[in-house]
Amino acid sequence: MRILVTGGAGFIGSALVRHLVNEIGAEVLNVDALTYAGNLASLKSVEAAPNYQFLRADICDHARMQEAFASFRPDIVMHLAAESHVDRSISGAADFIQTNIVGTFSLLDAARHYWDRLDACSKSAFRFLHVSTDEVYGSLGDQGLFEETTPYDPSSPYSASKAASDHLAIAWHRTYGLPVVVSNCSNNYGPFHFPEKLIPLMILNALEGKPLPVYGNGANIRDWLYVEDHARALFTIASRGRLGEKYNVGGRNERRNIDVVHRICAILDGVYQDKGPHARLITNVTDRPGHDARYAIDASKLESELGWKAQETFETGIEKTVQWYLENEWWWRPLRENVYSGERLGVFKGR
Ligand code: NAD
Ligand code: TYD
Repeated sequence: MRILVTGGAGFIGSALVRHLVNEIGAEVLNVDALTYAGNLASLKSVEAAPNYQFLRADICDHARMQEAFASFRPDIVMHLAAESHVDRSISGAADFIQTNIVGTFSLLDAARHYWDRLDACSKSAFRFLHVSTDEVYGSLGDQGLFEETTPYDPSSPYSASKAASDHLAIAWHRTYGLPVVVSNCSNNYGPFHFPEKLIPLMILNALEGKPLPVYGNGANIRDWLYVEDHARALFTIASRGRLGEKYNVGGRNERRNIDVVHRICAILDGVYQDKGPHARLITNVTDRPGHDARYAIDASKLESELGWKAQETFETGIEKTVQWYLENEWWWRPLRENVYSGERLGVFKGR
């Protein structure tokens, strides 16, 4: 099985590539532009594998995407390349529009031209998985869960750009017959997570004795999924999902941000008893503009139709994650020093 993964040097993409190369035994081509978020160090465990190849290319470059399809001849495409950080999208949306919308268009179109010319058997086996987020659904109140039928209502430039790309993917199925499936997942966490997102940022700031910036009152809720559970779900959906369908992915792990931060502090207190309590570093800061109050996923379609289930609970996953950061300074130290040192992103005057 030949799988073309876009964004395979990112957080979720690298977990997926490791899963596909090491556990599924697929032939993988990782197409990634290596933006600030792309890091080949996350792929050290597969870089020498005979079933792994890397191509540095921008998904917006249509000619290079066509070449990649023609030479690699994938059976499955798993499209994860994106700009992914809400706060960066507030500071500057241009890259989000370009990669998430124009780039997805470019990839879909290259896939369509390649797929059109396949023989009947390969044509009917081909799959294009478009990987998206639950943020396209907007914000929930206290009750209810996102279902696949929940109307799209995105709040941030990031989620609006992902919503646009989801619509393009479904349109390429309805209009051109391209065998597309879409997945919408909740917040991921785990090893190799770029330290701009809540969980790794809090772990590293706490380790360095720096303030832990909690936006607003910290009562916003996210539904956390361990990244390796997501990687398994993505392969399940790509290989067995029904065409033209969406599948929500989540593990029923809703937590308030403030409780997530307290949990990280408590784990670190246990490890470094002389440095605690780390919770003294918690600092309430100006809220994020357009901050969605609550996300929560109903994954019962994926569970009942395709038999996937999350293996980690938040408790087991967060312990593993903190431990991973403690043991893998080689991975995060260069990012903190050379790429992003943790300054606040996504606030602007007038709000
Ligand atoms: P990430 O920011 O860690 O990685 C994105 C990767 O895409 C990087 O390796 C980057 O170099 C690459 N990339 C960016 N622009 C590119 C371009 N123009 N051409 C080629 N490569 C490019 O993102 P992530 O957190 O791993 O998310 C992966 C996907 O999953 C995204 O589509 C995101 O919207 C979606 N998603 C993320 C989450 C989450 O919690 N992180 C949840 C649900 C869905
Ligand atoms: P984030 O990890 O950026 O993911 P997303 O915005 O895609 O859900 O943020 C998760 C939650 O944590 C979100 O409610 C914003 C909040 N947050 C903070 O309170 N402080 C921070 O420094 C960051 C990065 C996020």
